[in-house]
Amino acid sequence: MPTIILNQKAILKLLDMAEVIGVVEAAFKDWAEGRGTMPPKAYLLLEKGDFRAMPASLPGAAGVKWVAVHPQNPGRGLPTVMGTIIYNDPQNGYPLAIMDGTDITAYRTGAAAAIASKYLARPDARTLGIIGAGRQAHTQIQAHLPLFNIKQVKVFDTHKEATVRLIKAFPEYPLRESTLEETAAADIVCTLTPSREPYLKKEWIAPGTHINAIGADAEGKEELEPALLKRAMVVVDDIRQASVAGEINVPVAKKLFSVDEVYANLGEIIAGKKRGRTDPKAITIFDSTGVAIEDIAVTKIIYEKALKNGNFMTINMIGTAP
Ligand SMILES: NC(=O)c1ccc[n+]([C@@H]2O[C@H](COP(=O)([O-])OP(=O)(O)OC[C@H]3O[C@@H](n4cnc5c(N)ncnc54)[C@H](O)[C@@H]3O)[C@@H](O)[C@H]2O)c1
Repeated sequence: MPTIILNQKAILKLLDMAEVIGVVEAAFKDWAEGRGTMPPKAYLLLEKGDFRAMPASLPGAAGVKWVAVHPQNPGRGLPTVMGTIIYNDPQNGYPLAIMDGTDITAYRTGAAAAIASKYLARPDARTLGIIGAGRQAHTQIQAHLPLFNIKQVKVFDTHKEATVRLIKAFPEYPLRESTLEETAAADIVCTLTPSREPYLKKEWIAPGTHINAIGADAEGKEELEPALLKRAMVVVDDIRQASVAGEINVPVAKKLFSVDEVYANLGEIIAGKKRGRTDPKAITIFDSTGVAIEDIAVTKIIYEKALKNGNFMTINMIGTAP
């Protein structure tokens, strides 16, 4: 079989959030139990944005995502985050597929946060707060709403048009434009901005809140006041990445927070090695940097579904295919 090519349109037809949540959770468990390989992502930092190379393997799957993050892009008609994935046969290295990774990134990011919420938020959470109403906000809503009995989604963005667009995209869900402070008062708060200035204040966060800190995924990015980290139970997706590029990266560099204060990796909690929330009054924070096992887990099912559907382009990359 030659290498198959899947563009954004083809991928979107194959993505299903419930399925993505299932494979991402299984990938974290596999990795925590030693069945995956993943070096930390490598960054290429340029003036207008950055690029990341994210390789990983899981049982029966291997590949790499090359992803660009350019926060000024929405003004140019392009997404902030765009990815391309090369998916290989782990046995012989053959490139099985080249596919768009933009929506795979958005879906797996939403899924990882919702999985973190499942283990760390109060099960009786009724309000979801969305700070930053861009691309990632959509999949946070898609992933969280079926898992919790959410009665209201509060949305804040510094650009009103982004808030209005997000609310219009979900006519079936109870979304409402709110102030930053009101949004921060939700039971589950997702921070989804490329901010380099902490804007989420400790005084706004009630006992029992769970925060998914998603936006800080490169050196120098920061959304939460460091004092909030000190008061919380902090869980990371990968301590090697979080300490240099996640929500904790700036406080760690300034010695305001130590990696020793991190409670667990999400995989350890999923694998039952550590407990999730036990205290209804605890403030919990998931520091998400985005990990390559998430991408490869989703890529594997997309590849398998595409093969089954049979509707794809192919290219002879290397002469004779096995
Ligand atoms: N952790 C992960 O796995 C992961 C995955 C994908 C993206 N990200 C990061 O998440 C962030 C958002 O990505 P996106 O694709 O949604 O970008 P986007 O550009 O589509 O949306 C970002 C939104 O945040 C708003 N915003 C900016 N500063 C704000 C502030 N201080 N307060 C409120 N709103 C503000 C912008 O107006 C915009 O609407 C980026 O930093 C990106 O690098 C992380």
